[in-house]
Amino acid sequence: MSKGSFKAAKGVKDIFKDKLNRFETIEKTADDMSRLYGFSKIITPMFEDVALFNRADGQSSDVVNKEMFTFSDKAERQLALRPEGTAGVLRAAIENSLLEEPLPLKLYYFGPCFRNERPQAGRFKEFYQFGVELIGPSSYLADAEVILLADSIFKRLGVGGFCLKLNSLGCQNCSQDYKKALVGYLTGVKDKLCGNCKARLGKNPLRVLDCKNESCRSIISNAPKMLDFLCGECKAHFQNLKETLELNGVDYTTDPFIVRGLDYYNRTVFEFVSQDLGAQSAVCGGGRYDGLIGSLGGKDLPAVGFAVGVERLALIAEKQNCAPTEKSGCDIYIGRIGKEAQQVSFETANRLKARGIQAVCELMERGVKPQMRYADKIGAKFSCIIGDDELRTGVVKVKDMNSGVQIEVNLESFVDEFCKNMGKDR
Ligand code: HAM
Repeated sequence: MSKGSFKAAKGVKDIFKDKLNRFETIEKTADDMSRLYGFSKIITPMFEDVALFNRADGQSSDVVNKEMFTFSDKAERQLALRPEGTAGVLRAAIENSLLEEPLPLKLYYFGPCFRNERPQAGRFKEFYQFGVELIGPSSYLADAEVILLADSIFKRLGVGGFCLKLNSLGCQNCSQDYKKALVGYLTGVKDKLCGNCKARLGKNPLRVLDCKNESCRSIISNAPKMLDFLCGECKAHFQNLKETLELNGVDYTTDPFIVRGLDYYNRTVFEFVSQDLGAQSAVCGGGRYDGLIGSLGGKDLPAVGFAVGVERLALIAEKQNCAPTEKSGCDIYIGRIGKEAQQVSFETANRLKARGIQAVCELMERGVKPQMRYADKIGAKFSCIIGDDELRTGVVKVKDMNSGVQIEVNLESFVDEFCKNMGKDR
């Protein structure tokens, strides 16, 4: 069988059939739950001015430094495919004066993101994110609300086994003391760190805490912890958040090594991780970013949000056999034999479609057996074949594809009767 002359590029994938059904179930669930929580949808462009990501995500982050797909347009404007959703959503909120409306502003989004990373299981160059941004409140209740939303989406989908890891990065004041202590400790053990960490130590020491290298991990486990450096306000924020999660039945563990890969976070950061994912275990990541909107030229407003990696969530759902994939299916397949029946079957299918029935008619020129195989493949609930005999007698046999039972129906009243049986009676 010819596979054609071209293959999809490395790190991207086609989504269809079962995988698409699962994807759409996730999108629909995320959509329903976000609206239930009072969020409204925003669609932003897939590419933006590269400077937006440099400013928002941070020059020292891997996402900006190593992973952005950048290009220029004919006017030599420097652009980048979005590596994540937050920066574009905030740019849009500022540019379209959405922050002038009564707060909080609650936005959600679903769409592709692009990172030039080495592909592996659960890690792609193009992937989908579903995310939310809750702008305005500085209260821990907002942090709790977005975490509860993520949790309720997972629960609604029926996927489980996640661990919610929580940490606080403190505020501008207390994080400075912590960074000093961390740099002091890491400088003392610099020789034992991997090359990557040595470089990070100079640029963004917090990212060292995120290193997956085994020998770095044991050094990091003895490093000073941010939670021991939190100022009174940050400590209270974190404590209140934990209590609110407990009160609302969300389990978590405190993990001082969750620092996140983007530079904009302060105070609460969190990740939902799953053992079903292998090395790329984070299915959802987020946190508070109180200084970001101001730094992008908007009002100085606090905010908190998260993004879910849709492929990763779909992978977990597949492993756990939930978010079941429904056959896309159709209500009735109308086959035909012979030239004369061609127009009749086509027209019958169209009359059914006009009344809201998913009707598929035969468009290929093939025999009865392959037509029935096709009806089965597309998940038709009912099928019938119209041929010379049916046209002559005016009677057509309609088969229930599940039970195999056939009933005879008058061709003339067929559309009305079928609609009536399917509850589409006028
Ligand atoms: P992030 O942790 O960089 O956060 O990405 C969120 C999620 O996107 C990850 O937990 C992961 O599931 C998925 N993801 C990231 N990179 C890839 C990849 N290469 N292939 C497949 N999935 C991937 C953010 O992007 C923040 N904007 C989240 C946020 C919103 N924080 C506040 N508001």
